[in-house]
Amino acid sequence: MKYKFDINKVPKSIGIIMDGNGRYATMRGLSRKNGHKAGAERLVKIAEYCERIGVKNLTVYAFSTENWKRPKTEVMGLMSLLANYLKNWESYIGGTEIRIRVIGDISDFDPAIKAAISYVEKMTEKKKGLSVNIALGYGGRNEIVSATKKIVEDVKNGVISPKDITEDKFSEYLYTNDIPDPDLVIRTAGELRLSNFLIWQSSYSEFWFTEKLWPEFMEEDLQQAICDFQARKRKYGGLLEVDNKAEE
Ligand code: FPP
Repeated sequence: MKYKFDINKVPKSIGIIMDGNGRYATMRGLSRKNGHKAGAERLVKIAEYCERIGVKNLTVYAFSTENWKRPKTEVMGLMSLLANYLKNWESYIGGTEIRIRVIGDISDFDPAIKAAISYVEKMTEKKKGLSVNIALGYGGRNEIVSATKKIVEDVKNGVISPKDITEDKFSEYLYTNDIPDPDLVIRTAGELRLSNFLIWQSSYSEFWFTEKLWPEFMEEDLQQAICDFQARKRKYGGLLEVDNKAEE
């Protein structure tokens, strides 16, 4: 470790762009679906680690609005993997205090997946530990447009008045309304961009990138990312350094 890991200053909210499943599969002569399967297995381990060290929210990019453009076989493979994990969550993360939530526009998803989402959300809603927020059918721009439409409706219906529209009020209309903004955003597989992930919420996030492909991303790598985060100074545009321990 380059810096000392401080268990008392673990970021409370982490976002991860889990990139590189396809490359991982290609390098091993596997199908892309098996690359995603390896990615899902890694997600379970990383979630368990986050739960152990006291992270409260882990928001992961699992299927973007743009991913619909992928070949049908890959989209179907990913969907069946998702359904399998959501339906059988107990065999993967049962016995933990992990809660599962889905954020995004799932209106185009297969009814079986929608049912699996409702099932897992209901089954885990009372859990008190880490919330794993799975971004599905998610796109940051789409989220902002849809929030704007809901606000316009509420203004038209007299629920709120234009003077009530502050940044905080706007945030309440996003899919992430009760999820704290990420303190730390991680992207794997050597790509250095946000790709429409939490674009509103990550205004003051710290970013951390690694060449490692998502299925190769180990607990030690997350610990390194957190150590680096702890060594950074966050000033939110002011002059004073703000303690890196994020709000509860
Ligand atoms: C990006 O890698 C990854 C995705 C589009 C899917 C991520 C999904 C998972 C890790 C599975 C999630 C599972 C559950 C249960 C939530 P890529 O395919 O773009 O990789 P490449 O850039 O190397 O081709």
